[in-house]
Amino acid sequence: MTTPTVYVIHENADWMPPFRAAFEAEGVPLTEIDLGETGSTVDLGSEPAPGIYWSRMSASAHTRGHVHAKEDTRALLRWLESWGERVVNGSSVLELEVSKVAQHGLLRSHGFDVPRTTAVLGRDGLVEAARAFEPPFITKHNQGGKGLGVRRFDTHADFDAHVASDDFEEPVDGITLIQEYLAAREPFITRAEFVGGRFVYAVRVDTSAGSFELCPADACAVPDPSGGDAVEPFALRPKINADHPLVRRYEALLAEAGIEIAGIEFIETADGRTVTYDVNTNTNYNPDVEAVSPVSGPRSIARFLGGLLAEHEDAADTVFQRA
Ligand SMILES: Nc1ncnc2c1ncn2[C@@H]1O[C@H](COP(=O)(O)OP(=O)(O)O)[C@@H](O)[C@H]1O
Ligand SMILES: [Mg+2]
Repeated sequence: MTTPTVYVIHENADWMPPFRAAFEAEGVPLTEIDLGETGSTVDLGSEPAPGIYWSRMSASAHTRGHVHAKEDTRALLRWLESWGERVVNGSSVLELEVSKVAQHGLLRSHGFDVPRTTAVLGRDGLVEAARAFEPPFITKHNQGGKGLGVRRFDTHADFDAHVASDDFEEPVDGITLIQEYLAAREPFITRAEFVGGRFVYAVRVDTSAGSFELCPADACAVPDPSGGDAVEPFALRPKINADHPLVRRYEALLAEAGIEIAGIEFIETADGRTVTYDVNTNTNYNPDVEAVSPVSGPRSIARFLGGLLAEHEDAADTVFQRA
């Protein structure tokens, strides 16, 4: 019989080094199922190998050439769940990861302040739908991540021209969101990280440079074109801690939705709102934040999944003794 291990389902090996190191440091075995590589087969009548399965499928997989990774993960997770395997961030969470419409609905239905948003199915309705938004407004892809399709428009004429131009990027699922532009009180957003449904830390991400691509992973760092040291936009935000009422509400939301690992983003606006707009269930941790934080995101994940693995082995032992 194979030794039980933690299996991570992903499609981007570039994001794995911090997790490999954390699992090694915590002494937790980790086996990678890399769906960026094709050619795997699954015998649907066979029982999955024993262990804990963790899905880290990313909504932006298609931008790395892995156009079927979402469907591959859906298939794999359905099979695992049909066998009763313990899956962390399973199939219902995958549906959330790949749909900002689903994230908006989850947040709204739990009473969070969310940005006013219209989902436009296909390219044709965009110009008309935008008329209901007073500029500035932004667009984003329903299946996004790393700022895909996020653009700000200051006039309807600019938007109309953009939609008609070659610059318009077709979203992979055909759905573009038009969203009210949230003017931040100070130029930063906050991302609160959770592991095992519990708060880990909050990160303040400086947005003064105007970029919407805020991937925190080292593998996403873009070199400064001027050759100078890039400004580091990520910092720990200690004021947002485990006792903060918003953090408590996020924990309750995650528990209800069965989301175990997530980074939730919010903006505090100039007119006093706290608006939640992004639920990332495939989360990367920024190395500069990790360097100063008393707790580590990847180490928290390794400990959490290591704990589940130990429980799983205890349960297996009990069954074996009874047999
Ligand atoms: N409604 C908004 N108003 C102003 N800025 C926004 C808004 N939505 C997103 N942004 C900015 O764009 C970034 C990317 O948008 P987000 O919805 O998080 O997409 P992704 O899933 O690609 O990260 C955010 O972190 C934030 O800085
Ligand atoms: Mg985001």
